[in-house]
Amino acid sequence: MPTMANSHFKQPNGTVSNNDSRRQKLLQQRKSLPIATVEKRLVEEIRNNHILIIVGETGSGKTTQLPQYLFKAGFCHDGKLVGVTQPRRVAAVTVAKRVAEECGVQLGQRVGYSVRFDDMTSGSTRIKYMTDGLLLREALLDPYLSKYSVIVVDEAHERTVHTDVLLALLKSVQKARSQTANELVGRENSSNDANLEKGKEAQTTGPLKKGQGAKFPPLRLVIMSASLDAQIFSEYFGGAKAVHVQGRQFPVDIFYTLHAETDYVEAAMVTIFQIHSEEAPGDILVFLTGQEEIESVEGLVRDKLPQLPEGNRNIVTVPIYASLPSEQQMKAFMPAPAGFRKVILATNIAETSVTIPGIKYVVDPGVVKARNYNPRTGIESLNVIPTSKAQALQRSGRAGREGAGKCFRLYTEREFEKLADSTVPEIKRCNLSNVILQLKALGVDDIIGFDFMEKPSRMAIVKSLEELFLLGALTEDYKLSDPIGKQMARLPLDPIYSKALILSSQFNCLEEMLIAVAMLSVESIFFTPREKQEEARTAIKRFSSTEGDHITLINVYRSCDEFLESGNANNSKDKIFKNMKKWCKDNFVNGRSLRHARDVHSQIRRHVEQMGLRIASCGEDMILFRRCLAASFFLNAALRQPDGTYRALASSQIVQIHPTSVLFRAKPDCIVFNELVRTNQNYIRDVTRIDPMWLTELAPHFYARQD
Ligand code: CDP
Ligand code: MG
Repeated sequence: MPTMANSHFKQPNGTVSNNDSRRQKLLQQRKSLPIATVEKRLVEEIRNNHILIIVGETGSGKTTQLPQYLFKAGFCHDGKLVGVTQPRRVAAVTVAKRVAEECGVQLGQRVGYSVRFDDMTSGSTRIKYMTDGLLLREALLDPYLSKYSVIVVDEAHERTVHTDVLLALLKSVQKARSQTANELVGRENSSNDANLEKGKEAQTTGPLKKGQGAKFPPLRLVIMSASLDAQIFSEYFGGAKAVHVQGRQFPVDIFYTLHAETDYVEAAMVTIFQIHSEEAPGDILVFLTGQEEIESVEGLVRDKLPQLPEGNRNIVTVPIYASLPSEQQMKAFMPAPAGFRKVILATNIAETSVTIPGIKYVVDPGVVKARNYNPRTGIESLNVIPTSKAQALQRSGRAGREGAGKCFRLYTEREFEKLADSTVPEIKRCNLSNVILQLKALGVDDIIGFDFMEKPSRMAIVKSLEELFLLGALTEDYKLSDPIGKQMARLPLDPIYSKALILSSQFNCLEEMLIAVAMLSVESIFFTPREKQEEARTAIKRFSSTEGDHITLINVYRSCDEFLESGNANNSKDKIFKNMKKWCKDNFVNGRSLRHARDVHSQIRRHVEQMGLRIASCGEDMILFRRCLAASFFLNAALRQPDGTYRALASSQIVQIHPTSVLFRAKPDCIVFNELVRTNQNYIRDVTRIDPMWLTELAPHFYARQD
């Protein structure tokens, strides 16, 4: 049974249900939402159809209201749940909080959420918001998703890789649950990836056994989407019915630049201050590509403020991006202090899934950081690329939620015309190892023949199968290996990180690897303010290891731990928080990132403990740790070339050590790296020195074949 875990949220301390006027206001708001006029019809359609597609503008009330309608209509009687999936954690968390408030219940009671590393549900939860990835993991334990009567897949238009896989899975679960014992469930599991060369017709096989699903009442599915691609979903679900809910959108004036901008960050800065000095009150939403960029703009705005006329400095910036801890994300949703203009610096997480009140102006540089995968080289990279037209429309739409608004696109109208209509589904541009590992764990043997909504390329599938085989997760006939593959599937991490953790317990350095993986899971641990570059560099040197970035990161983590433990034993949480903040500031460490890393650390630690892995430390002997890195990251090894660049051994790509690495200048002969980032160069980040002989010794199945 799910338990109430610690959460970033303060519990609504009873004031919510007592506060009648607030509830009245919420009730009024609920009634005036566009979706409220079609409540009866939607409930009827879901009763009659088993699959329904709902298309409606952001803000029409789909996410917050539909689950409540279903609850009210009795879909949760006999203890069943309405599950609602979101592609993003922040949406699952904020929406659950809002709905709990609307229902006048404590979060985690009737209404709860569950996201990776944070479960806010209890035995009495009936409306459960979660990420699509989390529901996929639940299916590992409960293949028929038996506790749900309805599953709502929200924001399906985002087409994240998890959404696509979840849709396929739900299709087969629904089929299994609606068939009786005499009917065939799915299709017989007659083939698998061992027969890669044979063309196979689409099939959904899983651990679903003949007739077993009939024990459970039918599962109803609702697919919700903001844009008008209902057709694709409808076709995939055999002509499912689609219902459109009218949105409420005020006019948004669109402005383009006359000439192409060379530096969109600079252009965004200029635009922010221009809006601030020339336009009527109203908050500004600026779309940027990631944490680093957001933090740099925060700094730029701060630096600029003193130069403004005294009466004009009433501006506050608030960041929001996926890896920001929830309690800090919440700040974006709070009103600015009276008389101030709020400038929200957001990644594309603010594009559709969340509603941020108060926004009247949108600044859209027209770029987004997107994953890209090259199946030929097997390299996944994060690139800043132009948005699609659909994304541009969604972004401008954020300005017209509460009244007329303006959107400033920092590119020309001609450039807009050249944008692709819609974004390529993630499944076609990411490394599939993670998904394939999960599908294998779900009992899907034939990945090539799997009933994907949109098939990834065969090459991408084969490459990922190969990678999983090399990591030891799959056997020679591409079955999940026992115990490595099974253990890897249990960990909610990238396969390579999971492998590193499992191996590190054999190398006696699981303690170190836990810290390394936690630190690698967050963005930018160091920050270097422009005006204090020298000081920052000196501070960072204190943690630097000549062996590389992994050990440097471990040093940062441990130094902070030691500081907090020394003399802080009896301090309150608040005091520890304050101390940590100060320590981070003094040491030029990004406090937000470090806190996130500590959080991730304790969560993964719990996982490996449950798996019974032996947690030990290698103490001073960091060679063990580096050998373990070599043994798990051998696919990311690179050799120095005479000209100082590196050749990645698995892909033969020419790469360079990123300037932020502690090994940027040292340039050792042989290294392993954590990731490749493609900007104007192929940069590798988080790099550690290894002995090339370790590769043939520790990964002979890969390196014995090569020289
Ligand atoms: O899912 P959809 O975009 O159709 O709408 P929603 O998320 O259900 O939000 C409906 C309305 O509820 C929004 O327009 C906001 O007015 C309000 N809301 C809010 O104030 N705070 C939230 N965290 C979520 C929704
Ligand atoms: Mg929604």
